[in-house]
Amino acid sequence: MILITGATGKLGHHVVTQLLAKLPASQIAVAVRSPDKAAVFAKLGVAVRQADYRAPETLDAAFAGVERVLLISSNEVGQRAAQHGAVIAAAKRAKVELLAYTSILHADTSTLELAREHLATEVALRASGVPFVLLRNGWYHENYTENLAPALAHGSIAGAAQDGRIAAAARADYAAAAVAVLTSEGHANQVYELAGDRPFTMTELAAEVAKQSGKPVAYANLPPAAYADLLVSFGLPAAMAAILANADEGITRGELDDATGTLHRLIGRPTTPLADAVSRALRP
Ligand SMILES: NC(=O)c1ccc[n+]([C@@H]2O[C@H](COP(=O)([O-])OP(=O)(O)OC[C@H]3O[C@@H](n4cnc5c(N)ncnc54)[C@H](OP(=O)(O)O)[C@@H]3O)[C@@H](O)[C@H]2O)c1
Repeated sequence: MILITGATGKLGHHVVTQLLAKLPASQIAVAVRSPDKAAVFAKLGVAVRQADYRAPETLDAAFAGVERVLLISSNEVGQRAAQHGAVIAAAKRAKVELLAYTSILHADTSTLELAREHLATEVALRASGVPFVLLRNGWYHENYTENLAPALAHGSIAGAAQDGRIAAAARADYAAAAVAVLTSEGHANQVYELAGDRPFTMTELAAEVAKQSGKPVAYANLPPAAYADLLVSFGLPAAMAAILANADEGITRGELDDATGTLHRLIGRPTTPLADAVSRALRP
C-alpha cells in the first residue's frame, strides 16, 4: 500500500491521479485532514484516512498497513518542521519501507528562508533511520501562471529576481517524479534535485505571456523590500511577502536554477515547456 499525504492539495491531486493510471486503487491510500475533500478519490476506490500532521494519533491510524509514503510538505509555513517530524515519527513506528519527501531544490545549500524547514525535515528524516527519498523540487510554473489576470490588466509582472534563471517545471512533472520513485525500485536514500529542462528569466516569462496573449506585458524588477511592499498591497500577509521577496533574492544568486536534468531522467520525458504552461493558463 502506498500512502499519499497532502492529497487534497494541488500537487497531491496530480500524484494520486497519476498513481491511479499505474496501480489498482486498492493499493493507494491518502491521509488527509478533511476526508470530504478527498471524496473524488474515495469514489474511485482509494482508501481515504483522516490524519492531521498536528495530531500524531491520527497519523498512526493512517499508516496501518502502509509500505511506502509520500510526505507532501505542509503549506503551514513556520509549523512545518514540527508537523513533518510527527509524520516521520509515525512512519518509523509503522516501519514503512520508504518515505519520499517533497523538499526544495538544493535544500542543503539554499539560503532561501523557505529552505530552513525543508532542511530541518531532511535532517530529521535521515536521523530517523526510515529509508528515504528526497525529492528536492524546484519552483512550479504555476507559481507564475496561476494568476496572470493582473499582469494582463496592468501590462506588468513584478518581482525582485533580476535576471536570475528559474528552472521551473509543472506540478504534473514533479508529481510524475514522485510516482516514479514510489512505483519502482532503487531509490532508497537517494537525493534528487528536480527542476525544469529549460530555465527562464522573469523577462522571458513576461515576453512569453505578451507573445501568447497579444498584450504588452513587461517584467518590472523591484528592490526586494519594494516588491514585498507591493505584495502586501495586494493583500498578502507581511511575513509571506517577505518570504517571497527573499526567494527572489535567492533566484538572483541562481539558487532555483539547476542543470542536472534529473527530473527529465526520472520521468523519462522532457519537462513541460514554459510556453505550454502559459498557454494552458491563458486558455478560456
Ligand atoms: N515548489 C514550489 O514552487 C512550491 C510552491 C508552493 C508550495 N510548495 C510546497 O509544496 C507543497 C505542495 O504544493 P501544493 O501546490 O500541492 O500545495 P497546496 O495545494 O497548498 O497543498 C498543501 C496540502 O497540505 C495539506 N496540509 C496542510 N496542513 C496540513 C496538516 N496540518 N495536516 C495534514 N495536511 C495538511 C493541505 O491540506 P488541506 O487541503 O486540508 O488544506 C493540502 O493537501 C506545499 O504544501 C508547499 O510546502 C512548493
